[in-house]
Amino acid sequence: MLFYELLKIKKGFSVKKKIIYFILAGLLSTQANADPIYLDYQATTPVDPRVLESMLPYFTKEFGNPHSTTHVYGTRAHEAVERARAQVANVINADPQEIIFTSGSTEADNIAILGVSRALKNQGKSEIISVVTEHKAVLEPLKALEREGFKVILLPVQKNGIINISDLKKNLSSKTALVSVMAVNNEIGVLQPIQEIAKLAHEHGALFHTDAAQGFGKIPIDVKKDDIDLLSLSGHKIYGPKGIGALFIKKGTPVIPLVYGGGQERKIRPGTVPTPLSVGLGKAAQIAEQERIPESKRLLALRNKLLNILQKNLTGVIVNGDLEKRLPGNLNLSFAGVDSAPLLSNLKGIAVSASSACSSDSLELSYVIQAIDPEHTLPPAVIRLSLGRFTTEAEIEKAAEEIIRVVNDLREKNPTGGARSCKAEDVDKIKKELLKNM
Ligand SMILES: Cc1ncc(COP(=O)(O)O)c(C=O)c1O
Repeated sequence: MLFYELLKIKKGFSVKKKIIYFILAGLLSTQANADPIYLDYQATTPVDPRVLESMLPYFTKEFGNPHSTTHVYGTRAHEAVERARAQVANVINADPQEIIFTSGSTEADNIAILGVSRALKNQGKSEIISVVTEHKAVLEPLKALEREGFKVILLPVQKNGIINISDLKKNLSSKTALVSVMAVNNEIGVLQPIQEIAKLAHEHGALFHTDAAQGFGKIPIDVKKDDIDLLSLSGHKIYGPKGIGALFIKKGTPVIPLVYGGGQERKIRPGTVPTPLSVGLGKAAQIAEQERIPESKRLLALRNKLLNILQKNLTGVIVNGDLEKRLPGNLNLSFAGVDSAPLLSNLKGIAVSASSACSSDSLELSYVIQAIDPEHTLPPAVIRLSLGRFTTEAEIEKAAEEIIRVVNDLREKNPTGGARSCKAEDVDKIKKELLKNM
């Protein structure tokens, strides 16, 4: 797959670059033959070769400290970092000065949630509203705030994975410091109505943060139109490098830093900015924005094809989460009558994520699946298939074939497999575990 992408990219390149690309393509194609088909793009993405190329000079020749601007080494690195900042800002219609680089979305979420709540505490704002299906990068700092005396309200979701706006309305008050709701769920891919949520938060004098790790560069987000105060994003979800992300902070938003040091990143996130990583994030953001519409269409067509083949050839295929208000490349499926552990261990030809509810032979908790299925009516075998830039139609056909074969085999071998709901003791365990995790 990558081999063919690289062949396309080589057009117009110098002989030296073509040779590098051929070697890279050769290595990747050999690996592609041996390895399972990658359908886990929401976990992470490979670095796009165009991104890698943009980063390389900043590891060697352009090694200057971007904050040492008394000489050309530093000024060239500084210019590269500022270019990257502008590329990131452009995707969400922000001012470049409103973007600070972080190590990823986890850090950005922590700065936003802890930094804003602590800054507003003296103003009588002691409550934070979020959602049960948020990523741990949001839920864990919220737990820390609870220990500091804040009240944290976690809204439930409907069966489709989306919050009910009336639940938000009921819980908003003049005490609300911050509302934090993710743009796109990492397991079930559903989109939350962030524009509507931000509007309501502001009507009650609260600030609005969104964890957009799974949405940035993939769905249209405009911080001005959507009225967003803080937004977290990550490089490795958009074909950029790991270890870099950013936080958009609207001008004038109060934030207390988590770390103290030099004055970098508006004194909110001190430390030397890693030039190669920020350049890679900037380039990845630029490509994501330029190619977003055709890429979304292509991924949606591939996802629909995969779902159609599975539903045509198998009974009991359930889509978890809203199918319309959803990231184009995400499918989260349950298979009736199948246990999760044998399903995953037999799907050797594809790399997917598990988000199991519970099964007769293992208990793996997905609090997201539990949240959309509180009565435990879903079959226990749940997998997340996430498609991306380098997924091909042939791979989708092969993946579908494998899933059909494995599900049929398991159903044949164990016709009573996949208990319809968890056993009573399992449900208790789950509840305890969920309470611990909240
Ligand atoms: C929704 C969401 N938030 C936060 C994160 C954490 O991002 P990072 O790996 O950049 O810290 C992830 C990554 O899985 C995510 O999917």
